[in-house]
Amino acid sequence: MHQLTVRGLMWIWLLLLWCTSCNCGPDPRMREALMRQEASRRTGGAIELNEREKLLDAKLQKLKQHEMESGQFPPSMHFFKAKPLIEKSPVFSLIHKMPKGAVLHVHDFAMVGVEWLVKNVTYRENCYVCFTDDHSMRFTFSSGQPVSRPHCSSWTLLRSLREKIKNSTNLDNSFIQNLTLFTKDPDRAYPSQNVVWKRFEQAFLVAYGLVTHAPVFKDYLYEGLRQFYEDNIMYVEIRALLPSTYELDGRQNDKDWNMRACQEVVKRFTTHYPDFLGARVIFTVHRGINATAAMKAVEEAMELQRNFPDIMAGFDFVGQEDIGRPLWYFRDALSLPKERGVNLSYFFHAGETDSQGTDVDQNMMDALLFNTTRIGHGFALARHPIVKEISRKMDVPIEVCPISNQVLKLVSDFRNHPAAVLMAEGHPLVISSDDPALFGATGLSHDFYEAFMGFGGMSFNLGTLKELVINSLRYSSLPSQTKKMAIETLLVKWDKFVLESLLWTTTDY
Ligand SMILES: *[C@@H]1O[C@H](CO)[C@@H](O)[C@H](O)[C@H]1NC(C)=O
Ligand SMILES: *[C@@H]1O[C@H](CO)[C@@H](O)[C@H](O)[C@H]1NC(C)=O
Ligand SMILES: *[C@@H]1O[C@H](CO)[C@@H](O)[C@H](O)[C@H]1NC(C)=O
Ligand SMILES: *[C@@H]1O[C@H](CO)[C@@H](O)[C@H](O)[C@H]1NC(C)=O
Ligand SMILES: *[C@@H]1O[C@H](CO)[C@@H](O)[C@H](O)[C@H]1NC(C)=O
Ligand SMILES: *[C@@H]1O[C@H](CO)[C@@H](O)[C@H](O)[C@H]1NC(C)=O
Ligand SMILES: [Zn+2]
Repeated sequence: MHQLTVRGLMWIWLLLLWCTSCNCGPDPRMREALMRQEASRRTGGAIELNEREKLLDAKLQKLKQHEMESGQFPPSMHFFKAKPLIEKSPVFSLIHKMPKGAVLHVHDFAMVGVEWLVKNVTYRENCYVCFTDDHSMRFTFSSGQPVSRPHCSSWTLLRSLREKIKNSTNLDNSFIQNLTLFTKDPDRAYPSQNVVWKRFEQAFLVAYGLVTHAPVFKDYLYEGLRQFYEDNIMYVEIRALLPSTYELDGRQNDKDWNMRACQEVVKRFTTHYPDFLGARVIFTVHRGINATAAMKAVEEAMELQRNFPDIMAGFDFVGQEDIGRPLWYFRDALSLPKERGVNLSYFFHAGETDSQGTDVDQNMMDALLFNTTRIGHGFALARHPIVKEISRKMDVPIEVCPISNQVLKLVSDFRNHPAAVLMAEGHPLVISSDDPALFGATGLSHDFYEAFMGFGGMSFNLGTLKELVINSLRYSSLPSQTKKMAIETLLVKWDKFVLESLLWTTTDY
């Protein structure tokens, strides 16, 4: 589809011939033809905009140009510094209103803005805190005094602590800071990938005691769906660790409880918001585990697949790829489903690295050899021509998470992100947000903004956005009939968005 057609080549060749024969400069028609060829290859390049879309696109291009010429270009800055600028941007406000389809790469405990965790969850009854030796904290809910844990102060009931200190503003702010990576000076706070990853996993541990309390687990999921819905998203696929959740008396619930809780919350949510399609779970385990533990995890995944076929989408590994085990190490475990004739889909994180030629740099190829449905990140894809070719032939998209890649220090200026090249070639991909809560991002809009402005500059248009949002459903794990219906629903929302934006968007300055 994106190859130069024989006719096209002939034409260019004839033009060249004609040009040289008359000894004039390059023919402008040839130049235009080449530019059109190039534009047609990029993401959305094959999409024909209708009259209304063309009008909106013209406005969008104007807004974009204004923003690019205004001196400070947010995609060239760290997101923590760019965020206030982005939120003032009319392009961002349009992207926020745009129906964005699905979020396909987001992690279970990084969905909800951390303010909600602090202002809502830590204010509930029976919430205890302890302060760790390394200047962080842990939380737990308990009906009695919890058993103290190593390297942590004794547990304090938060309600008593708050009564004692009277003004909780500073305390709450320190909770918020420990739950996110946000900081005013990210370059100083996070000098290396290992440092930022360490803080990242630390923040998860802070949230852990809150979000694994059974009632909070359900409320968290509901609130997560609500925040995505507010960002005009209609469907979510959640990478979930499914840790055992606990009750006030210390009783533990197993994975089946978690899956039933997800089912129940999604059902309740779609009853309240009928135009929300739902959510599915990709069961994940940490890539630091050994081969025996991986066998067990894949067995568990197959069992969940059998018991919860409607909500279970597949399996994946999480954690810092560079220091984790490569997929090839897990090959026996990953071969189990095929050996048993079971369908278990894979959604591997792979290529979230800039360490070329290492064991983990092989992960993208191995993901494809294990028939992965999508590749999480695929940041290293541009450096692997064969893998790139295969993923294109197999139509396996990469899930590009711009802000995550920047905060975790794979790239600093979005104009230099490898996805800029991949989108110029129309490689199959979706935009996602990975851990929006930890980065202080909302749903998908901030990531869409960075991708649209940073990867594309002036070259992307409304067609690019349209293809990206359609991709998000096209590459979802939904059954084909549901997928078809979802895309139809999305396009109805899209037309409404175009019409309303035409009425409301102003380009007067
Ligand atoms: C906390 O969240 C729950 C569930 O989402 C909600 O019912 C409750 O009203 C919230 N409480 C506060 C104080 O915001
Ligand atoms: C609580 O402390 C914060 C920060 O020190 C301050 O801005 C705020 O005004 C205080 N609130 C009250 C009610 O005193
Ligand atoms: C985490 O909280 C502790 C204790 O309140 C505080 O001293 C520390 O500065 C916070 N850490 C970060 C990274 O903000
Ligand atoms: C693999 O990991 C499990 C769980 O952490 C542990 O119990 C087991 O001893 C490990 N096996 C080997 C062979 O290291
Ligand atoms: C697995 O998927 C294939 C292709 O989608 C299908 O033909 C087959 O029946 C499925 N097998 C099982 C056990 O569900
Ligand atoms: C991947 O899919 C191909 C084609 O359907 C099949 O031949 C191959 O055995 C699969 N590999 C694994 C590991 O499932
Ligand atoms: Zn991820």
